Amino acid sequence: MNVPTRVTLVEVGPRDGFQMEREFIPTDLKVEIIDLLSSSGVPAIEATSFVNPKVIPQMADSDAVMQRIRRRPGVRYCALILNVKGAQRAIAAGVDAVRFVVCASETYNQKNMNMSVAQSLAALREVVAMCAPIGIHVEPAVSVAFGCPFEGEVPEARVIALAEAYAALGLRDICIADTVGLANPRTVRRLLGELRARLPDCAFALHLHDTRGLGLANALAAMDVGVTTFESSLGGLGGCPTTKVSTGNVSTEDLVNLCDEMGIETGVDVEIICEASRRMQEFLGRPLPSHVLAAGTRRMLFTGVSQPC
Ligand code: COA
Ligand code: ZN
Repeated sequence: MNVPTRVTLVEVGPRDGFQMEREFIPTDLKVEIIDLLSSSGVPAIEATSFVNPKVIPQMADSDAVMQRIRRRPGVRYCALILNVKGAQRAIAAGVDAVRFVVCASETYNQKNMNMSVAQSLAALREVVAMCAPIGIHVEPAVSVAFGCPFEGEVPEARVIALAEAYAALGLRDICIADTVGLANPRTVRRLLGELRARLPDCAFALHLHDTRGLGLANALAAMDVGVTTFESSLGGLGGCPTTKVSTGNVSTEDLVNLCDEMGIETGVDVEIICEASRRMQEFLGRPLPSHVLAAGTRRMLFTGVSQPC
């Protein structure tokens, strides 16, 4: 099996995780969690999104979040955006990068973004024109790349066409998202392998959900075809508000633990991620879907630390 010596993790919990929570997470707690995460060694954090606050009320405080976090040098603070207005707000708030999502399914795009795929791509074009001259990195993603809860199978050709459209706009860091947890190691290997072969100048990241328990297996399958950037969420918080069942990103501490155990460097301190997850668990008042949070790491077990991570 082909595993890299090092991978890059992107923490998406403060956006993908928090947006699923009904109860409003106070801005101070969001800031506390992001600051904890940035002290863990994780190089990039999706800190918030600049979307319509009437649609996603949890993200209504994105300006305040960006203003109050402690910007740690070396950490890239990104925000998800879905239209030009979002880009304007994110730039004004001082993000390092914007992450723009288009769905590989027309129905999902319409339901999530209230736009057609063509409209989203037109908006992305405008966003790129706005960001390029001021040095704001644009990181596009293909959402529901492995299947759509509304349309069923998503043809690989559609994902490839979107990735090619991104590359044609000069965008090189492309994320492929298993938004509703429908990927398996075989489809991951095939799609990511194909994308890497067709677009050798692009770097692909995999956005992982663990909806059906295949998240870590999918990460390994992607590593096997040369992918080295992965997106996960503290405590396994997360999902997509369009389909209420898509809960559960891969938990960052589980992914870090996998890498630690296999000798794959992440630069991330698993204990700090656990501290952040524990804090969220306390606030939310329910156990989070993270194995390492519940059981601790092997090192803890062997060194006699009885309290889980
Ligand atoms: N930030 C703040 N307000 C926004 C906005 C943004 N990025 N985009 C649109 N709005 C506001 C408009 O100003 C307008 O306000 P008004 O009613 O006071 O005039 C209102 O929203 C409607 O504008 P419209 O252009 O019709 O946009 P929309 O409501 O169709 O919004 C999205 C498009 C994509 C921003 C919206 O569907 C959305 O926020 N979806 C969230 C999806 C999401 O986050 N999913 C999870 C991650 S993929
Ligand atoms: Zn997601």
